[in-house]
Formats: sequence, structure tokens, C-alpha cells
Amino acid sequence: MSSNTVAEFAKERNTTPDTLLQQLKAAGVDKATAGDVLTEGDKQRLLTHLQASHGSGAKKITLTKKSTSEIKQADAAGRARTIQVEVRKKRTFVKREDTPAEVQANAESMAKAVQERATAQELVRREEEARHQVEQLRHQEEELAKERQEREERERREREAEERAAAYAAAEAAKVAEAKAAKEEVKREHAAEAAARATAQAEARAKAEAESKAKADEEASRAKDLDERRRKALAEAEAIRAMMAAPKKVLVAKKPEEPKKAAPAAAEAKKAAPAKDGAKPAAGANAGNGARPGKEVKSAKLSSSWSNDAAKKKEIKTRGDSSGGVAGRSNWRGGPRGGRRGGDRHEQQQQQAPEFRQLEISVPETITVAELAHKMAIKASEVIKVLMKMGQMVTINQPLDQDTAMIVVEEMGHTAKVAALDDPEAFTAEEVSNSEAEQLPRAPVVTVMGHVDHGKTSLLDYIRRTKVASGEAGGITQHIGAYHVKTPRGIITFLDTPGHEAFTAMRARGAKSTDIVILVAAADDGVMPQTKEAIKHAKAAGVPIVVAITKADKPEANPDRVKQELVVEEVLPEEYGGDSPFVAVSSKTGQGIDELLEQVLLQAEVLELKAPVDAAAKGIVIEAQLDKGRGTVATVLVQSGTLKVGDVVLAGQTYGRVRAMLDEDGKQTKEAGPSIPVEIQGLNEVPQAGDDFMVLSDERRAREIATYRAGKFRNTKLAKQQAAKLENMFAEMSAGDVQTLPIIIKADMQGSQEALAASLLKLSTDEIKVQLVYSGVGGISESDVNLALASKAIIIGFNVRADAQARKTAEGNDVDVRYYNIIYDAVDEVKAAMSGMLAPEKREEIIGMAEIRTVFVATKIGTIAGSYITQGHVTRNAHFRLLRDNVVIYTGEIESLRRMKDDVKEVKEGFECGIKLRNYNDIKEGDVLEVFEIKEIARTL
Ligand code: GTP
Ligand code: MG
Repeated sequence: MSSNTVAEFAKERNTTPDTLLQQLKAAGVDKATAGDVLTEGDKQRLLTHLQASHGSGAKKITLTKKSTSEIKQADAAGRARTIQVEVRKKRTFVKREDTPAEVQANAESMAKAVQERATAQELVRREEEARHQVEQLRHQEEELAKERQEREERERREREAEERAAAYAAAEAAKVAEAKAAKEEVKREHAAEAAARATAQAEARAKAEAESKAKADEEASRAKDLDERRRKALAEAEAIRAMMAAPKKVLVAKKPEEPKKAAPAAAEAKKAAPAKDGAKPAAGANAGNGARPGKEVKSAKLSSSWSNDAAKKKEIKTRGDSSGGVAGRSNWRGGPRGGRRGGDRHEQQQQQAPEFRQLEISVPETITVAELAHKMAIKASEVIKVLMKMGQMVTINQPLDQDTAMIVVEEMGHTAKVAALDDPEAFTAEEVSNSEAEQLPRAPVVTVMGHVDHGKTSLLDYIRRTKVASGEAGGITQHIGAYHVKTPRGIITFLDTPGHEAFTAMRARGAKSTDIVILVAAADDGVMPQTKEAIKHAKAAGVPIVVAITKADKPEANPDRVKQELVVEEVLPEEYGGDSPFVAVSSKTGQGIDELLEQVLLQAEVLELKAPVDAAAKGIVIEAQLDKGRGTVATVLVQSGTLKVGDVVLAGQTYGRVRAMLDEDGKQTKEAGPSIPVEIQGLNEVPQAGDDFMVLSDERRAREIATYRAGKFRNTKLAKQQAAKLENMFAEMSAGDVQTLPIIIKADMQGSQEALAASLLKLSTDEIKVQLVYSGVGGISESDVNLALASKAIIIGFNVRADAQARKTAEGNDVDVRYYNIIYDAVDEVKAAMSGMLAPEKREEIIGMAEIRTVFVATKIGTIAGSYITQGHVTRNAHFRLLRDNVVIYTGEIESLRRMKDDVKEVKEGFECGIKLRNYNDIKEGDVLEVFEIKEIARTL
């Protein structure tokens, strides 16, 4: 070691002499000042002391953490492979050497050093800047001087040349005058002219001189100005230098003021620069930005032409107005630049056409950030900025919901308007009303509704002389059936709806697209929940109700009771002054069915149903499915006009040309008039049940609208999903660990898929959420299985099966695929699966009571309760509650159980034993132990 004084050693150890002196003192080396000499022995003692105080053990500990996990992956052959993944993390902990005091001292000194260095650097930088400015000023001055010299030189030369020319002209004139004295007048004129020219020239010269003098004066004053600034800058530099020399603390304290001082100097230097080219020093600041106003004009033009496009011009607002209101608005167009332009902005505004036009922006249901920005003719980043201020981080392609988008529009100073100008749906209205064809009477559409198994399908079967009901899975109807029946008194179209509670949506649709409702209530069962629901739907749709009390043939049938129950539900029979005919019918014997039809037709007559026949067809999609052989098949009910093969159809978000048409018996037909249900093929995708359909003249137009609707739907869905995701996040955060059961539904029919999805989603509880990953119509494909794999979902196939490839992938990856053909079964099984996911409930079960008769203390074991089992039994692993005068004093576990001197597992009623309580000794004679076990009980939903 080279150091031999305390100060040097301190420096070597990277600490302050004071700290070192303290440490030395602690080590027993007595040194008073920093200048004292240290011997090797002193240093050794210090070292030993420090080692002793910190422990001389290992200073470094390295831990290696290893975790192993598994990934399941299918290989090329489709077999499942398990890959082991090992993650190793190494972490080294280094023991600190310094005492806390030292650490603090070190930290302080380091912070101080850093601060000092930073201040010093800052000062050096500023000095450098000032010097640079001075340099620049000097340079400018030199240039000016040079220029002045050059100009003077040039002017002198010009003057000389002029003088010479004048002299020459005069001489020449004199010469001519002399030589041709005879030719008097002309020559004299010449001479005079020359003289005049000479005087004029002399005058011009004088003027030029005066001008140059003025210029010189001006320059002189500018030079003086420059001088002044230079002096200022120098003074500034001097001040900075002085500050550097001054004590550091003062410098640190002064720091915040510094930039202000340096800034004016820089600004002045900058201002001086344009003055150099200054023919018009006053306008100097403006001249420097000369290029910009042009640009402004251009952008103003652009935006104005755009707003003309939008055909919605509004009053012209100046920028000053628009930036006045909301803080966010000032950011609008060129906001950041505005700061730089500063004071001249106002001037420009008066010169240029106003560049901000308030636009009326129509905001559709959803709009992406980019589209919104485009509508306002600004950059997307401006929109993003505004949203950021509102606390939303968005990307350029993110769809915004209408509300948010409208706020952004208002924030930008425009007016926002709901709806969409570019919405092709706006135009379909005229196409809708184009049918001026003659209105002709049409058949009534009758929907049969009622509780499950009350005989709706059987009734229709009887009327149609078919046997649909017997062919149904589980005997329940799971989708809407549509049939038209020719009766002697006219055609009736029937819609058969399912009675199971899951199909609410179908019943609602059925009621909406109907003229009359046949309310079915079984004579042996009466009014049931779905009977009530059906009444509600019918009343909501405002359609007349004809009541059919079914199963009237049954011995236990009681039509009168049903009638009473219906009256309670406010369905009044005609004989009670109401308007609903009641007919008791039987699908077994055919009793009452003719009368029922009679009543229906009567109601229809009252309604005077009419529809145009010779017009483009319109109607409703009743059901839709994806058929393997036929592609998309939709059952539609024509409500007006005539649907023909070859027509271009727009149905919801789908479109297509009708390739083939089948009636309800599966026979090919060419056309279908009002109130006739048909199956059509040829739509590009499966429409939603309940969608409206219409025939359009132009396929391209149909495609356009369908695509637009699909896009709108997708965007709406996306916007909703994003919101939902967030909501979920918060819900999950607050709810702790909510379990989810992800499912994928594939069904044969669109309606069944919808009903199944609704029923399954309804199973969600606070603890377990059913998460619908995907639901669709059609067979289970490999991509469905892959989706299930990725989302850990189970697949539910309703009346559909997995194809070979999907089955293989599912088997290889253990994806759970379940098939159902009855909606209850699916719901019940999912319910069971969810019950299995529920955390078991813990329940206490009291197994016995023990009375403490003696308390003794064993040396090795502790306090033991000598007890008598008064009731039940006591086991070694049980819990207890200590009761004293029937008050619970303590609850805990039994540690050990002894009879005589042996450990036992259980002691029965009527026996004595020793009980040791875990972690509890405060027991008394006469206390009672209530012994219980905790049982886990599986829960159900
Ligand atoms: P969902 O469509 O599933 O709501 O049922 P549904 O209302 O269509 O009932 P469905 O026609 O399937 O009949 C249910 C059961 O009742 C069947 O077993 C029928 O045989 C029986 N049934 C229906 N109508 C009558 C009837 O008039 N008399 C007797 N005795 N039985 C009937
Ligand atoms: Mg049925």
C-alpha cells in the first residue's frame, strides 16, 4: 500500500477521512486528524476490526432456482408429445461491506459528487454555449464589416465610372459642338442635352451617395446593436465563469434560474441572425418563416374541399375561437407547431384564409381511430393524443364505440352526429317501398305456442296428417317448423315453436312474424311457465289468441280448470266477454280440431290480411342451417311479394342467388307467394334466424349491403368484446379466483345453437363462469378442435358430429368433444361438470362430547385433560371446542389421545381417556370438550 496518511488511505478506500477516522477509533487506532500517519500495523488492525464486525464469512451467495414444466404438443403424425421445459434462474447475493453510517456517508458523497459533476458539466456546457454565441456574433460582425467594405469599394468604382462617363459625354458634346459649329441648333440642343444628362447624372450620384450614407448609418447602428449584444453575451459568459468559481452549494441553489438567463442570450443571438439579411429589419421575424403561410393555405384548401365533399358546411370559425374552449382543442392541427410560431400566428390569421372549419361529422356505431381521423381530415396521431388525454390508450386500427368517437369529435371542435351517411342501409328504404303492386288477400300465419309437451306438434301433425312429433329427438321440438295447410276454407300457414324454456328467442320470433297465435294448454296440466311466457309474447306482438285446450280425450282432462287458470293470466274466453275463442281438442281423436281451424279462419277474416303478390319478395328467416350436401339452407317465410328461383336475396348479413327452392314437404318449387314458407339454397353464409330477407335487383348491391352489415356487426362485436374484456378483468380482480368453463358449441341449426348458447351461459354463477369461446352452425371441423385446444375448451356438438380429421386431432390432444341431440342433456351435463369444478363445501360434524374430570401435568408432554366421553366418540385427528359454562373459550385440534399409557386412535362413549390439546393448556375441571370433524361435501349448482 502506497498511502501513509489517513487522508490518502481514505481516498484509496473511497471514503472520507472523517469516516475512516471513526473506523480507526473503533478499531483502537487513535488518530486525530486526516494528516496523521498510518502504519501497516494500524491498517491491519482496522482490517481485522472490520472483518470482525461484519463477520468474515462468505460475501457472495449464489442461488440456482430450477423449475420444470410440461408442454403438450401434437407432432406431425397427430400424436401427443410431452416436452419437458426446464427453466433455470441464477441469482447472486453480494454481502455489503460498509456499515450503515458508511453507506450513508458514501451515498451522500457519491450523490454530492454526481451533483457537483452534473452542475460542473452544465456550467461548462453553458459557458461553451455562450462562447459559441460570442464567436458567432464576432463572425457575423466580421462578415458585415467585409460586406460593408466591399460595398463601399463597389460604390466608389461605380461613382468613378459614372464620373468618367459624364466627363466623356461632356467632352464629346463639346467636340461635336466645336466641329460642327455651323450646324448650330441641333448641335446646341445636343450640348444642352448632354449637359442636362450630366447634371442628372450628378444628381443621381449625389442621391446614391446620400443613400449609401444612410445605409452606412444604419449598419453602424446595427453594428452598435451587435456590439451591445456581444457585450451582453460576454457578460453572461463572465457571470457563468464567476459562478463556476464561486462555492458549489450556492451554485446548486441557483441552478433553477440558470436556463432562464441562458435562454434570452440564445434568443437574442437567434434574433440577430435574420437581421443580417435585413432589408426590412422590422419584418425580420416574419421573413424567417416566409415559407410557412403558403403551406397553411394549402391545408386550408384541402380541408375546405373535403368539407364540401361532406356537403355539410358549417360556419367558419377562426382558430382563435376553436382553441379558446376545451384545453384539448388547442392541440388541434398544428398545435405543437403553434408554440414555435408564437406571436406571428395572430398576424398570419388575419392575412390568410381561416384554416379551421367546423365540420359535422357523422359517427357510425363503431369507427376505427384511422377512419375517424380521416373524417376530420387530421392525422390519426391527433386522435390518439386526444384519447390519451381522456385516459385511453388506443391503436390506429382500434374501433371506438360511438360515444367515445363523438366525444373525440367534439373535443376537436367539430360537431358530432349520430348515424352514418355512408350507410348503405339508408338506401334500402326506398327499395323497400318500391312495391306498388296490388294488395291481394293472403293466408294467415298462425304460430302454435305453449308449454313443453302440451301437444303442439301433435296438434299440427293431426291437422297436416303427418307424424313429425314421433320423429323428434326425445319427443321435443327444438326448432321452428313451418307448414302450410290447405283446408276447405282456405290456406293456413302454421309455425310450430318449441315449448322448452331454452327457446324463448324462437318463441319471441314466432310471435313477431305471425298474425294469430294458437295458445296450447294441456287439459291435464293447465297453465305452466311457458304457457305464461307464450301469452306474454303474443300480447307483446299484439296478435289475437285462439286457445286450444289439448289432450281433451284424456280421462284426467279438466278443460274448465285450464280456462280458469287462463282467465287469471288475462286470456278471456268469448263467453266471459273476452275476445279469445277457447276450443277443447284432441290430437288422438280429432275432437274439436275442425272448430279450432274454423275459429282461426274467423279471426283471420277479421284481420283482412293482404299483401302484394306481384312484387319483389320480402319476409323473415325462420331457421337456417349448413347442410353438407346442399350448403346453406334457410327456411324463410315470404310475407309479401313472390320469391322465385334465381332471385337475388339479401338476408341479414348474408346474400346470394336462390339456387333451389323446396316446400315443407321437400318438393321442388319454382316460386313462393305471401304466407308461404320455403327452404332456399344459395346464400353465401348461414343467416341468423329472425333476420329479415328481401329480394334486390342487383347482386352487387346485395353483396355491398351484406358486407357492410357484417362489418358493422363485427365492429360492434369487437368494441363490445374489448369493453367486456376489461369488465371481466375488473370483475375477476375483485372476485378473486373465478373459474371459467370455456365451451365451443356447434349445432345443426342456427336457432338451436342460439338457444343452447343462451341456456349454457345462464348456468354461470359467481364462482364459475361459462365462457362461450365460439358457437357456430355445422359439423365439428379440425379448426374447431384446434380452437378448443388453444382455449382449453370443451366442444359441444348438438346434432352434429366431428369429421374424421377433427376426431383424430381431438383424440390425439385429449380434447373433450361431447355430442347431444336433446338440449336438456347438454345443459344438465355442463351443469354437472361445473359442479365438479366448485370448491367443496366444508361442514363441521359433531362426533362427541367429553367432560374434563381431572387436569394433570406430565413432565414431558404438558397439560393433559383427564376426560370422560359422555356422548359419541373422540378421535385423535378431530377438532374441539372448549366450553366452560356453555361458553366457547377456545377452538383447536386434539394433539393426542391416550388410554392408560397407550396412544389410541379413538375412544368411545362411556370410557375415560387423556386428551392433550394442541397449543392449549388453560383447562379446568368441569370444562367440556365438544369434539367435531370437518367434512368436505361436494357442491352442486
Ligand atoms: P314440445 O314441442 O317439445 O314443446 O312438445 P309439444 O307441445 O310439441 O308436444 P308433443 O306434440 O310432442 O306431445 C307431447 C306428448 O303428448 C306426446 O307423447 C303426445 O303423444 C301426447 N299428446 C299430444 N296431444 C295429445 C292428445 O290430444 N291426447 C293425448 N292423449 N295425448 C297427446
Ligand atoms: Mg313440439
